Amino acid sequence: MRPDETYQLLRNLTSPVVAITSERDGKRNGMISDSAVRASIVPAIPRVSVYIHKFNFSHDLIFATGRFVMHLLRSDQFELIHRLGFASGRARDKLADIPHRLGKLGVPVLEECYAYFECRVVNVMDTGSSTCFLGDVVEVGYGASSRPPGMVMTAAYFRENLPPAWRQEYEAHLAAAQRFAAERSRPIQPVIWSDLA
Ligand SMILES: Cc1cc2nc3c(=O)[nH]c(=O)nc-3n(C[C@H](O)[C@H](O)[C@H](O)COP(=O)(O)O)c2cc1C
Repeated sequence: MRPDETYQLLRNLTSPVVAITSERDGKRNGMISDSAVRASIVPAIPRVSVYIHKFNFSHDLIFATGRFVMHLLRSDQFELIHRLGFASGRARDKLADIPHRLGKLGVPVLEECYAYFECRVVNVMDTGSSTCFLGDVVEVGYGASSRPPGMVMTAAYFRENLPPAWRQEYEAHLAAAQRFAAERSRPIQPVIWSDLA
């Protein structure tokens, strides 16, 4: 099968579009991911996993601190996705104009979301170009907005309804990330998460 066709089939495995926040030494950041999944079937041991590329600033913050907050988004939150998912926080504070508070782990919790999960990293897996973070959910809540939550933003809904003005930018970012990943996906490093060492 052609690689493009394989990739389109794999897209059926993607998850909701989530916002991931992080914090290190007072520096707060946020990014967008569509690779988050439930990683536990035990209601009393809620876990999530997410793949984050090594070129993203969020990767450095989460790898260094072992903390992140994953937010399910409402299906009307395209503007937030554009702000957090189309540019890096290395150069500027992307959360400066986005209402948030620090949660139980000291990581930003966005006011506007469907729901959020505060997570502590319990293990990682290297993929060469990214790290898969396994997180224990230590706190959960709903968004603070008085708006009705409506539907959760999914990857398919995002791609179908992305405002046309942002489509070219989105596709250019995706193509750049794919080039980065293509060059680095083969050499996989064994990583022992510090808390397990
Ligand atoms: C819909 C969408 C899905 C994305 N999924 C991922 C993902 O799963 N993993 C990842 O590393 N980056 C993903 N990104 C890209 C990051 O959100 C983007 O590179 C962001 O600018 C990183 O910000 P940072 O450098 O401040 O961490 C996605 C972006 C969008 C718009």
